[in-house]
Amino acid sequence: MVNQNDIIAKTVEYVRSELANAEGGHDWWHIHRVRVNALKIAQEEDCNPFIVELAALLHDIADSKFHSGNEDIGPTKARDFLEANDLPEDVIQHIVQIIRNVSFKGGHVTQSFESIELAVVQDADRLDAIGAIGVARAFNYGGHKGRLLYHPDIKPVLNMDKETYKRSTAPTINHFYEKLLLLKDRMNTETGRRLAEERHRFMEHFLEQFYTEWNGI
Ligand code: ADP
Ligand code: NI
Repeated sequence: MVNQNDIIAKTVEYVRSELANAEGGHDWWHIHRVRVNALKIAQEEDCNPFIVELAALLHDIADSKFHSGNEDIGPTKARDFLEANDLPEDVIQHIVQIIRNVSFKGGHVTQSFESIELAVVQDADRLDAIGAIGVARAFNYGGHKGRLLYHPDIKPVLNMDKETYKRSTAPTINHFYEKLLLLKDRMNTETGRRLAEERHRFMEHFLEQFYTEWNGI
């Protein structure tokens, strides 16, 4: 196998160029934050940090949301890239499984694969969906999709199946109830849970303030 530092550097270069025109919440800087948090969490877990770092870097290489719902493009692109760089098949398979299973998609899909490295990357990706960054990303995505900020008569829908979740065009505030506020209780690792607490409280505070201002006080 080629030198691990070289592979990481090449992956960074590849991901940055692939995501050059990505929406602000799913761009290189999302990947950067997930990578940093994943490596931080990895220090507290008995896991392979090389797999964690590569999977974090490649986890949104082609998000199905931005590719007409196609869930194979991301894993296929990642596999092609890793094969071209002569990584061993077991490492490639593991990273591809992480990419396939990291996403939330309404929270009602049974995960078909488990590993500590997936748990770590998933926690880092979930942390980036909550807190101040989570608020910013949600409204950026809503704006990108032309969604309303909030509508008092359109209520959040819990327990959506994967297809309904993907099709939803609800106001961005609903996304807090449909996903963001649920993440704290779905963290996999102790470190992830601890980091999620403060970010969760921040979102609750944000929502309180939002309704106060909405109602004209
Ligand atoms: P995953 O990447 O786990 O599949 P999502 O598809 O929900 O999860 O998208 C990841 C991020 O994109 C969310 O954390 C949020 O910032 C943004 N996002 C996705 N769907 C919505 C939505 N309906 N409203 C607002 N933001 C969204
Ligand atoms: Ni992500």
